[in-house]
Amino acid sequence: MTFPRDFLWGAATSAYQIEGATHEDGRGPSVWDAFAAEPGRTYLGQSGEVAADHYHRAEQDVALMAELGLNAYRFSIAWPRIVPEGSGRPNQAGLDFYSRLVDHLLAAGITPVATLYHWDLPLALYQQGGWRNRATALALADYAEVIAARLGDRVRWWVTQNEPWCSAYLGYGAGEHAPGIVGDMQAAVDVAHHLLLSHGLAIPRIRAHAPEARIGAALNLFPIFAGDQRPETLRAVQRADRFHNRWFLDPLCRGEYPAGLFDDLGVAPPPIQDGDMAIISTPDDFLGVNYYNRWVVRAARPAAAASARRGDERVPDGIDYIADLPQSDITAMGWEVYPHGLDMMLEELNRAYHVPALLITENGAAFHDEWNGVGRVADQRRVRYLRDHLGAVERAIGHGVPVVGYFAWSLLDNYEWAMGYGKRFGLIYVDFETQRRIIKDSGRWYAGFIAGQRAM
Ligand code: FCB
Repeated sequence: MTFPRDFLWGAATSAYQIEGATHEDGRGPSVWDAFAAEPGRTYLGQSGEVAADHYHRAEQDVALMAELGLNAYRFSIAWPRIVPEGSGRPNQAGLDFYSRLVDHLLAAGITPVATLYHWDLPLALYQQGGWRNRATALALADYAEVIAARLGDRVRWWVTQNEPWCSAYLGYGAGEHAPGIVGDMQAAVDVAHHLLLSHGLAIPRIRAHAPEARIGAALNLFPIFAGDQRPETLRAVQRADRFHNRWFLDPLCRGEYPAGLFDDLGVAPPPIQDGDMAIISTPDDFLGVNYYNRWVVRAARPAAAASARRGDERVPDGIDYIADLPQSDITAMGWEVYPHGLDMMLEELNRAYHVPALLITENGAAFHDEWNGVGRVADQRRVRYLRDHLGAVERAIGHGVPVVGYFAWSLLDNYEWAMGYGKRFGLIYVDFETQRRIIKDSGRWYAGFIAGQRAM
């Protein structure tokens, strides 16, 4: 048997994508409420105001997890439910909600994995400068301690930050995510530094209340392939690797930013204070890996580089992402299905960064699922996707990589950020009109796979 006996078999979600109830029980507004309310920011102007109504259905959703045989569940805590104004007294009703959720999970034999920050920054903190402001990193650590004081007796697994690359670059460079600022790469690297700092600052604050806690950050990582063998393409591969992977991996695991990164991005280094890099590289218990796809890149021809720059402010300059890959299976997100990228990535992380453990904190795919009002959701492509990616995890473990868990993204169809409700990633279909849940064929397949593994 390849998978360790205590392997975490889970599914993941995040607060803003599933909870809804954005005005209830004292929750304050977040940057995502504000962003989604701006015309033209999200698909059909959709927001997480109702989402999958999980706030009112948490107990039923835990029952569905149990039906799937999951032994772990990764969710995120909405900071604006806990500290609605960004500072001041914590909101008991918010804490109570997550405390009840944790109790339901434990009663069902499901290990909770709590993410502190999955992008829903309290709007009040944004108005004071948000992640550009170092004070926000300190505020996250305070909030982490409030949560750990309440849940630390029952929650052992903690993810501090989810995909800081997205918060920094999609928020301040591409502008596709809240707060929707386009082309301010200096802000993006400053924001990234404060996100990383908040991770390190939160660790001792969590441990103070949960001495046995296992703490890490979750990064979205991509193996980078060369689209041709030109020397300038090989340099483009290195630049893309710095931008997508090493920007966050190196500070966390090596205590330094990769040489050349800030030049690539055409910016000055962020405001690094004495001791910051040591805080950021506080040893973690695991690294969370969110894997969706690889990138195949080549050096852009000068003319193409100039037009890419004018078009979408894509950085670093001079990288051409090859989208039309022959014979590739492409998901509804436009992402190539490439399972082998996952084991390559895991082996490379193990070799280059020596992390004590790796947790697949997200892996999944959106397809155009259909439910006809009766019967099943036959999502054969997602079944294949899961089977092939679990095969990749199994290969990596077989080669000695310490992978300790796998979380399918996502438990439920949900609010896919700027793409709204059009992109369905769930193992469980949600009919958003009625909030009815239907376990998809992929959910049933995953349940069977887990049962098989756990019976061995
Ligand atoms: C990741 C996010 C997650 C979800 C998936 C599809 O980037 O962490 O919230 O949107 O992508």
